[in-house]
Parts: sequence; structure tokens; C-alpha cells
Amino acid sequence: MSLANTTFLDACRGTRPAHTPIWVMRQAGRYLPEYREVRSKVSFEELCRRPDLCAEVTRQPIDRFGLDAAILFSDILTVFDAMGAEVEFTPAPVVAQPVRTAADVARLRFGKADDHLGYVYDAVSACKKELADRVPLIGFCGAPFTTASYLVEGGGSKEFFHTKSMAFTEPALFGRLLESITTVLVDYLAGQVRAGVDALQIFESWGSALAPEDYRAHVLPHLARLVAEAKGHGVPVIVFVRGNASLLEQAKTLGADVMGIDWSIELSRAIEVVGTDQVVQGNLDPMALFATPQELERRARAIVEAGRRARAHVFNLGHGISRFTDPDAVARLVAAVHAA
Ligand code: CP3
Repeated sequence: MSLANTTFLDACRGTRPAHTPIWVMRQAGRYLPEYREVRSKVSFEELCRRPDLCAEVTRQPIDRFGLDAAILFSDILTVFDAMGAEVEFTPAPVVAQPVRTAADVARLRFGKADDHLGYVYDAVSACKKELADRVPLIGFCGAPFTTASYLVEGGGSKEFFHTKSMAFTEPALFGRLLESITTVLVDYLAGQVRAGVDALQIFESWGSALAPEDYRAHVLPHLARLVAEAKGHGVPVIVFVRGNASLLEQAKTLGADVMGIDWSIELSRAIEVVGTDQVVQGNLDPMALFATPQELERRARAIVEAGRRARAHVFNLGHGISRFTDPDAVARLVAAVHAA
């Protein structure tokens, strides 16, 4: 492999490249007119199943902005195909039959990822070909808890009533569910690496739903197994936990190559929590892209400055980009980070 731009992988491995590398969570998506053009012809589900179109939309933000890494176009919920759970995107995900009882869990199949997710691996190959070694490709999955929460709630949630009820009233069942999900995810990430991804990101988007002691008791061991297995493939592993400083303390015990930091904590403070020997990624508030150009640039520079205290720093937003973002603001952000 001879990548033209290794800044992202260098930073992930703890060496500081000449400029701070940047990519953006949800960088391929509805804020881009060229994405909306592709999406006007196919549904989101079909798009995820069309390797040629996945490759096209994965490349779009690379062409437009000169970002330092691409992320595979897919979704954290495509993995439900390996579990026999049906999900529809409206565009918010809706699971046909939420999984809340022992009988519901027994109905799931927890199959081999390789038997059901070949279309994702084909998308990885297509993306690699389309990117032609310009930048590395990031593969991903949801963390066990975030994945489980969509299955149990049947979609997004504010209170996580069903998920937390299951964890508290039937901890053994909840544990079995997380363990089975984790086994599928382990398999799935292995398949993505075999298909050619250069790094992996695990999204714990809803870690903040649990109190720290519950996260530690019910969730952390499963995430630890997933990270340990993922690290065995030799590509950098990023763990993005959206939560609070306390969850960050737990997450740092996972030994991930890179800790993704959300926007709810100052990066300098997050670096104190995870330690200056840790590579960090983040953490601009996605809404800062709606501020004036001067304010956006000021915030971007401040985060680059704070990131210098870490072992290395990958610039990113502290959560996914809003669909209402002006693409020109992203162009300004990339220029500001590269120049800082
Ligand atoms: O550009 C990229 O980052 C790659 C593709 C990607 C998507 N989703 C595409 C998508 C990635 C990495 C994700 C991750 C994802 N999906 C997460 C974790 C990150 C986070 O935001 O916390 C979560 C929680 C999901 C679940 C999901 N998928 C939701 C809640 C939605 C609804 C709408 C939305 O945008 O929030 C989706 C649909 C989805 N996934 C879209 C895209 C581009 C929009 C679908 C459309 O085109 O209509």
C-alpha cells in the first residue's frame, strides 16, 4: 500500500504529521448537493447495497474538501442484516420488531457477518478502488450498547426506557444480548479489514444514556472485547464515546489507538482525563459550522492548539455534521485546520 496522504494514519499511530489531519463524522451525507443528487434516484437502503454508489458518495467529500481520510458509506444499523432484524430508514431508523423479551432475543439469529454483509465488504473494495490510494478508508460499526439500544427501543430514543429496563430488571438477558451482538460485530470488523479498510471506528453514540456505574457493569466488558479483537487486525482503532468525562475515564482503559472526544468537554480537559500519551480525535461542536467564518476559524485554531498537548491529534467534529450545514463552511474549516 502506498497512500499519497498518510497524515491521518500517522497521527493515529502517534506520530505528528506536518499538518493536523481532518475528517468529519457523517462527511458523506445530505448536506452535500452531490449526495442529494445520488439519493434522489435510490432509497438509503438501496444506496447502502450498491457498492458503486457507496464508492461514489464516499469519494464526494474527498474531492470537494481535500479531507485526510474517507469513511465507508454505510450505516451502523446495516449489521442488523446479520441478526435477522429488519430496519427501515424514514430517514430516522425504525426497527420492525423491537427486541424486548427473552422470546424476542431468541428470535434473532446472530449469524455470521460474512454470510449476510457481503455487500458491505463489496462496498469497501469499491471504495478502495475509487479512492485510488489518495487517502485511507475508515471502516466502522456501532458499539455493542448503541447497537443494542436501537434494537431494543426500535429506533432512536431520549430516555432509553426499554433498554435500561432490560438492563436493570433482566441483567442476564441484557448481557446475553450484548454478548451475541458483540460476537457479530467482532466478525463484521474482521471482514471489513479483510476487504481493505485502513482503520476502524467504533461509534458509542448513546453511551451517555447510562450512569457511569451501569456503563461499567453492563457495557464496558463487551466494548472491551470488541476493541481487543479489533486491535488484533493491525489497523488503528478509534473509539468514539459520546458521553461525559466519567465515561471517558472508563473508555481510556480500553487501550484504543485513538479516543474520539465529543463536543461536550473542552479538548484540553479531555486530554487531562485520557492522558497526554493518548492520541485524540475531535471535537468541534458541529453547530460551530453555522457561526461566522471568523468565529469558526477561531474555534478551529483553539482546538488545534489544545490538540498539541496530546500525543497526536486528528481533527474532527464532536458529533455528526448537521444536514443543514453549508458545504462552504466545511471548506473553510478544512483550510483553517490545515493552516493552523
Ligand atoms: O459519512 C459517513 O460518516 C459515513 C456513513 C454513516 C452514516 N451513518 C450514513 C447515514 C455513518 C458512519 C453513520 C453512523 C451512524 N448511523 C450513527 C453513529 C454516528 C452518530 O451520528 O452518532 C448512528 C447513531 C446512525 C443511525 C442513523 N442512521 C440515524 C439516527 C439516521 C437518521 C438520520 C440522520 O442523519 O441522523 C441514519 C440514516 C443515515 N445514515 C443517513 C446517512 C447519510 C441519512 C439517510 C438519508 O440519506 O436519507
